[in-house]
Amino acid sequence: MEPVLLVDNLTVAFPYRKSWLEAVRGVSFQLYPGETLALVGESGSGKSVTSAAIMGLIDPPARIQADRLLFEGKPLLRQSESQWRKLRGNRLAMIFQDSTTALNPVLRIGEQVMEPLLLHEGKDSTSARLEALAWLARVGLPQPDRVFHSFPHELSGGMRQRVVIAMALCCRPSVVIADEPTTSLDVTVQAQILQLLRSLQDEVGMAVLLITHDLGVVEEQAHRVAVCYAGEIVETATCEELFSNPRHPYTRGLLDSIPRLDRPVSKLTSIPGTPPSLHDPLPGCPFQPRCGPRLERCSREPAPEIEGVRCWLMEKEAAVESSAG
Ligand SMILES: Nc1ncnc2c1ncn2[C@@H]1O[C@H](COP(=O)(O)OP(=O)(O)OP(=O)(O)O)[C@@H](O)[C@H]1O
Ligand SMILES: [Mg+2]
Repeated sequence: MEPVLLVDNLTVAFPYRKSWLEAVRGVSFQLYPGETLALVGESGSGKSVTSAAIMGLIDPPARIQADRLLFEGKPLLRQSESQWRKLRGNRLAMIFQDSTTALNPVLRIGEQVMEPLLLHEGKDSTSARLEALAWLARVGLPQPDRVFHSFPHELSGGMRQRVVIAMALCCRPSVVIADEPTTSLDVTVQAQILQLLRSLQDEVGMAVLLITHDLGVVEEQAHRVAVCYAGEIVETATCEELFSNPRHPYTRGLLDSIPRLDRPVSKLTSIPGTPPSLHDPLPGCPFQPRCGPRLERCSREPAPEIEGVRCWLMEKEAAVESSAG
């Protein structure tokens, strides 16, 4: 199966003083139709910058480089603004954590939800209106009819977030990038939205790139997980593998630092130290100063990627296994 989104060696740098600050470094992943890939990692690890780069939302003087960045097999970089407008909010949609800025304050909700249906789907206004109402109901908004005629300021933050989610999903995109989509919602609404995403995946084969801090959500929602650290992906694995057998020392620390129902709270630890500054990147592995089992070469050379894990310890393990076997 061909990936619907292919990111190969993506680097995003922002100008800083007379040099560059690399917020994302050599990130690669594939997203397949119908799957959910979760992007997890500490604050500042480059998750939002990665998604903004894919959505074409990073403007010069910032610099984006990639060996390949393909959506439905076609290059995303260097598209014209009019090509972007056709794609964005249609085949390729994004849900941000903060919905307030995505809505136009002077237009009624109904008009805003109808817009992508009129623009991208070419529907007439009667069927666009019916469909917009149906979507408002689908994202769990009570009294969709009343919401339809409201202005954004008349709704609560959680209601606005659901409107934005309805707008993102109503054209049945093939990829949705969801950056902390449900963080601002209460738990029952969150469960409802996640359920809606899953049912659309089954229905139309939509793929989701899910950015979240919540490992509970990841475990419930994702098929695969990519773990980010200091602008790099340090481990990619299926959800099952990652939770049962985390391999990168950072992933292990991350899982240990989060309370989980299946473990006693006394085991809770946090990773000592802080992530490296982007201003002076380390020559070797960015996690090396905080890594317990690090090797001498970890501070000198960037780690190779072995079986989805970017770590010198994997090479050592592989060597031990091959000499044993
Ligand atoms: N426009 C910008 N100019 C300069 N630096 C930026 C810009 N946008 C992001 N950065 C830097 O890039 C790094 C990655 O930021 P990013 O927002 O991707 O982190 P994140 O993983 O999404 O974190 P969070 O979990 O807090 O949302 C940060 O150090 C941030 O300060
Ligand atoms: Mg972010």
